[in-house]
Amino acid sequence: MFLRNLIQASAILPFLYNTASAQIACNNSPSLCNKPYNNVTYLGAHDSPFLRDESTGFSTSGNQYYDTTTQLDAGVRLLSAQVHKLNNTEGNEAWHLCHSSCNLLDAGTLGDWLSEIKTWMDTNQNDVVTILLVNGDDAMPAELGQHFQQSGIAEYAYTPPSTDILPQQWPTLQSLISNGTRLMTFVASLQPSPDFPYLMDEFSFMFENDFENDAPTDYSCTPDRPGDLTSETAASSGRMFLMNHFLYSTQLFGIQSPNDTYVNVTNAQTGLGALGTQIQECTGVYSKPPNFVLVDFFNVGPAMSSVDAANGVDTPSGRRSIPNAAKLEEFTGGVVKRQGSILAVVIAVVVSVCFGL
Ligand SMILES: *[C@@H]1O[C@H](CO)[C@@H](O)[C@H](O)[C@H]1NC(C)=O
Ligand SMILES: *[C@@H]1O[C@H](CO)[C@@H](O)[C@H](O)[C@H]1NC(C)=O
Ligand SMILES: *[C@@H]1O[C@H](CO)[C@@H](O)[C@H](O)[C@H]1NC(C)=O
Ligand SMILES: *[C@@H]1O[C@H](CO)[C@@H](O)[C@H](O)[C@H]1NC(C)=O
Ligand SMILES: *[C@@H]1O[C@H](CO)[C@@H](O)[C@H](O)[C@H]1NC(C)=O
Repeated sequence: MFLRNLIQASAILPFLYNTASAQIACNNSPSLCNKPYNNVTYLGAHDSPFLRDESTGFSTSGNQYYDTTTQLDAGVRLLSAQVHKLNNTEGNEAWHLCHSSCNLLDAGTLGDWLSEIKTWMDTNQNDVVTILLVNGDDAMPAELGQHFQQSGIAEYAYTPPSTDILPQQWPTLQSLISNGTRLMTFVASLQPSPDFPYLMDEFSFMFENDFENDAPTDYSCTPDRPGDLTSETAASSGRMFLMNHFLYSTQLFGIQSPNDTYVNVTNAQTGLGALGTQIQECTGVYSKPPNFVLVDFFNVGPAMSSVDAANGVDTPSGRRSIPNAAKLEEFTGGVVKRQGSILAVVIAVVVSVCFGL
């Protein structure tokens, strides 16, 4: 009897250990659980919902080869997107995720995207996720907030003690997880509202370097937004640092699109203009790594390697492995579609110029 219990107990022991260690991994590593939110480096997918894949006919406006759910599965923990106002087919105004213009790339509604993230968070309960919305058409807090409420994701939202005073100390990942407030939401920019106190104004809490880079020699660690900050005042302000690290190519009529041909260098760990090189350079400037690094085509590099190095994480767990390569279109009409989308914009521009719109 005793022996049988012992055998049964020893049979489930490895299982217990496995679940125990899986439970204590926060954002894919137990070593991050007790770190304050602002003492971690997070990999960010720049323009997370704007895809260069089959769903968009490999649009040259796409910034990522894999969708938001796949990004999260692979370890991305900051998702950025641009929000624009659009009249939908019923003639009502709706908030869509569009790349600069909804004629260029319309990735659907804000609400649908938030639901996708909510679904992922429902099944991944030891992860802290950050959303950064670029408020292209000056949405009011209620206009954005209603989609956070309706999608249900608001139930995970963290509310800061103050909407404009930086916290002395951010909570640890473990306390955000234990409290069920695992979603951090920043908007650039927003006048905070007491009705939606979880929508944080980005530049009250963060600063960024310049994001307009065309060549691997262009990157800088110097604060660009909010204005009027030097490296010294940015650091002493206590704001978190978001490091933009992606390249633009300029197409016909000055339309900018992500530079995909060079991304294996841009997202590499070493070399001129590489992500790892820039993280080290900025770590030198601020005496600590950036909190967020925002990249295009996150799976190439892979960008995650430099982020793990910054966090001192060498055995991450629970991530899905994604090919470290571009997703290439099959040669079946994709090229035609892609030119079609640029042509549509050119026509739209010409029409609006001609008619003075
Ligand atoms: C986190 O804190 C450790 C210990 O103080 C420090 O070495 C590291 O640079 C910090 N990382 C970030 C991203 O703040
Ligand atoms: C939507 O349509 C209404 C009515 O035609 C118009 O007044 C409004 O400016 C349009 N909004 C956008 C964002 O196009
Ligand atoms: C967790 O929730 C409690 C009760 O609402 C609150 O007092 C505490 O500040 C929260 N902690 C964090 C880290 O948000
Ligand atoms: C991407 O950037 C590299 C390095 O600056 C440049 O050589 C290349 O032409 C760019 N690609 C495109 C498509 O603009
Ligand atoms: C990037 O890709 C080009 C073309 O395939 C290759 O020649 C180069 O060695 C790659 N560089 C890195 C850092 O992977």
